[in-house]
Amino acid sequence: MSQNKQGILVTGGAGFIGANFVLDWFRSSDEPVVNLDLLTYAGNPQTLVSLEGDDRYRFVKGDIADTTLIARLLGEHEPRAIVNFAAESHVDRSIHGPEDFIQTNIVGTFRLLDAVRAYWTGLKGEAKDNFRFLHVSTDEVYGTLAPDDPAFSETNQYLPNSPYAASKAASDHLVRAYHHTYGLPVVTTNCSNNYGPYQFPEKLIPLVIVNALAGKPLPIYGDGQQVRDWLYVTDHCSAIREVLAAGQLGETYNIGGWNEKPNIEIVNTICALLDKLRPRADGAGYGEQITYVTDRPGHDRRYAIDARRIERELGWKPAETFETGIEKTVAWYLDNAGWVEDVQSGAYRAWVEKHYGDGRDKPKGIRGRSGSRSVVRPDAKEAV
Ligand code: NAD
Ligand code: DAU
Repeated sequence: MSQNKQGILVTGGAGFIGANFVLDWFRSSDEPVVNLDLLTYAGNPQTLVSLEGDDRYRFVKGDIADTTLIARLLGEHEPRAIVNFAAESHVDRSIHGPEDFIQTNIVGTFRLLDAVRAYWTGLKGEAKDNFRFLHVSTDEVYGTLAPDDPAFSETNQYLPNSPYAASKAASDHLVRAYHHTYGLPVVTTNCSNNYGPYQFPEKLIPLVIVNALAGKPLPIYGDGQQVRDWLYVTDHCSAIREVLAAGQLGETYNIGGWNEKPNIEIVNTICALLDKLRPRADGAGYGEQITYVTDRPGHDRRYAIDARRIERELGWKPAETFETGIEKTVAWYLDNAGWVEDVQSGAYRAWVEKHYGDGRDKPKGIRGRSGSRSVVRPDAKEAV
């Protein structure tokens, strides 16, 4: 990779947001990127195939919990910043099997922080002053909101409800402690639900698009009235770049799209777009595939982000509305069926069978096709 510019180390850059971040980075910068990713089921190097042979880019397969590897990479590349995306990220998987979440999100973040602290301690002058550790986190650390509660601000209490959210909250606390205790120059971002290209089809929006096209049920947990605040992924990436460039050390920044929507509305919107862009052969609407299924245990009812701080202090604003973002997203999945096929490996199919498969709990109610099943079994053993 290029030796003439300092560069950054990105972790988890073969996942959904990390890969979008790396691709976006090179649209506006030539600064080198080292991408460290363990390539779990969620990591897909194919997403970054366009960077093969590019001397600004180096991919390293490895674990953020591997302190020897991290120390070696830091010594070799002397990055001016770390952007930590690496995590287990799917709430339902954390309910089925929390252990990987504790390992990567808590132990992994701790080990990464410790190796980075040793590296940063050895830096001198400007290199030390300008160094940054940016930790990418989630709005789920704040828990759930009642319908009339104000949106989460940076001063909200941490009240995580799922094993995933608790593991991310723990990682945020470790990052904070490394600043407070050791002076490590950190900044943390807490973002709302992302959507867009290259998202693994276990998450609501890609799952619904992929299932709709495959003629499968579109599973809606509970009553479908849970509210999420949706942000197009490249807007999250631009916010991270702003925080990396000018965020105040030791501070946190909430990032969101001011797009609060109930899940059922999201699914109806996707169905309407598909009806227009890829009508069903039988002339029926994709909405017929909507299937109400057993709710997620401990399901948070509402998230909403107050993004005024990042807007006010760093001048960031999302470029996409939900309407423009969801159209682009549906179009991307229609145009990239090959990417979807590639990630639907055996491990992915095993997860889908375990989580949604036949022979489990009965669905709460079905609109459209019969024979679909739903299950959320917190006691189930992780099979993927
Ligand atoms: P993802 O699951 O798509 O990708 C995670 C990536 O991390 C994968 O490439 C995986 O291989 C890698 N990884 C996992 N364990 C690792 C380890 N021990 N060492 C190195 N790499 C490892 O996740 P995402 O949706 O892209 O989320 C990225 C980050 O953003 C996460 O920290 C997540 O908590 C946070 N976040 C996500 C959202 C969202 O809506 N997806 C919203 C807010 C914050
Ligand atoms: O809020 C930020 C978080 O958003 C991130 O920190 C997580 O990494 C990311 O996975 C996401 O978490 P959610 O649980 O909100 O996302 P998910 O796509 O799994 O679900 C979105 C909503 O849709 C949620 O209320 C559950 C519901 N849902 C999800 C699936 C997969 C369904 O109704 N049916 C489904 O099959």
